Amino acid sequence: MTPPPDHPGTDHLGTAPPPGCPAHAAIRSGTAGDLFGPEHEADPKGFYEWLRAEHGAVAPVRLAGDLPAWLLLGYRENLEVARTPSRFSRDSRHWGDWREGRVASDSPLLPVVGWQPMCTFADGAEHERLRAALTESMNRFDRRGMRRQVTRFTHQLVDEFAADGHAELVSGIAEQLPMLVLTHLLGMPDEYGPRLVEATRDLMKGTETALSSNAYVTETLENLVARKRAEPGSDLASWLLEHPSGLTEEEVVQHLRLVLLTGNETTTNLMANTLRTVLTDPRFRASLAGGHMTLPDAIEHVLWNEPPLAVIPGRWATGDTELGGRQIRAGDMLLLGLAAGNVDPAVRPDIAAPMYGNRSHLSFSGGPHECPGQDIGRAIADTGIDTLLLRLPDLRLAVPETELSWTASWISRHLVSLPAEFTPRGGDSDTLETETGLLAPDFLARSAPQPDPPDQSKALDRPNTPDRPDVRRSSRRRSWWRSLWRRLRPGPRPPRR
Ligand code: HEM
Repeated sequence: MTPPPDHPGTDHLGTAPPPGCPAHAAIRSGTAGDLFGPEHEADPKGFYEWLRAEHGAVAPVRLAGDLPAWLLLGYRENLEVARTPSRFSRDSRHWGDWREGRVASDSPLLPVVGWQPMCTFADGAEHERLRAALTESMNRFDRRGMRRQVTRFTHQLVDEFAADGHAELVSGIAEQLPMLVLTHLLGMPDEYGPRLVEATRDLMKGTETALSSNAYVTETLENLVARKRAEPGSDLASWLLEHPSGLTEEEVVQHLRLVLLTGNETTTNLMANTLRTVLTDPRFRASLAGGHMTLPDAIEHVLWNEPPLAVIPGRWATGDTELGGRQIRAGDMLLLGLAAGNVDPAVRPDIAAPMYGNRSHLSFSGGPHECPGQDIGRAIADTGIDTLLLRLPDLRLAVPETELSWTASWISRHLVSLPAEFTPRGGDSDTLETETGLLAPDFLARSAPQPDPPDQSKALDRPNTPDRPDVRRSSRRRSWWRSLWRRLRPGPRPPRR
């Protein structure tokens, strides 16, 4: 966090909280929910419902370092806060606990809430200046060209496992595709992707290594900006540098970092959750097979029930105010509870009712900071999944659904793995482009539950589709991307059978 000149400093902690402060009082009395505790980590949805039952639409929560915040559980309260920057600022320098020296300089919250010179932390005219540079530069991307890139990258990834007959779809597709596309949009060589995926995820988790991961991401982007200053190209880094808003180099670096941070993990989660739903929910598959729903419609349903970002830190009260019956003090931190707000009984009395194609969820937030990259995120997810299903039309879950598990941080929930199986096949990926966002016909035809999946070896009966010898060749061909990913990514990889 960049301190203002008069900032008292964060090295001597222990400053007493303001007397009578309801947020600190809830922590002291033990009634605040612990957003960094085991209950939240094990079952975030259950945790939000418990908080809703205890506290209503605005609940006191405890963050790392015993810092208090208000978590918004109500749909209306989330929108009210997101849409009223005059009362609830995006500028974290309003944060009372930080101004008064109660936030440690190595707090794991700082990579996410520490003030940076970027639009996320700005209000009013300054926000408009920075956001215009970002949205106008992002609008320069040719959407059809982008979908073609997504299709091409998806084929490359599917080539890696298509001949095996089984794949782990979180690490094999969902964790790789968004970063491949984003590094390409930013103007970076593709091979930067794997390390950036790890570093961005780590810094958002708020772990002890969050600060060093943050430094790695920032340094990589500084080098990119220096290169693009010398040799501009058709990419986001070059367009931000030349935008009439006159961004400084530091501002360009921070906005590229913002795109990576918000764009990657979110789109990964959206892809993983949509794939899980496609593979596990019989209602979902039956609707798709009925032909009444496109994949983009289905994605909106998933965005209601599994928002890729469950919690957005944050907003800071600019003065004493009231919200959802709570007294909020000037400088209090508020967290948008997007996952909780999306299932608020006040707007969804029947939680089982399908929300296909309904875009009024909170998953992209609202107000002036509403996600400007949502169409890019949707395009990556729906084109990627569509292409995958076109290549592997009999894709099915390889383990009982009860074996699927998630990891949760204070901000998001991440599906650990999604093992799938299918009839092994080769593929000449260049012939199988899809840009429609409509599900592959083969998948639609087969997506209703079937006891014994039929032999798919001849299903992709198109010109240039290679037969068995090419399948074997495909299984031997392991791309540079896969081997880089394996080398750089820590932890065990799923076994190849
Ligand atoms: C499914 C994917 C995505 C989801 C669910 C998502 C969600 C969000 C949310 C909830 C916010 C609002 C934060 C707030 O109210 O303070 C946001 C902001 C933002 N998102 Fe996304 N996002 C996604 C994809 C992307 C992509 C692909 C990009 C860029 C290519 C992107 C760029 C941004 C930026 C720059 C902001 C900050 C906007 C501002 O503060 O004015 N997002 N995103």
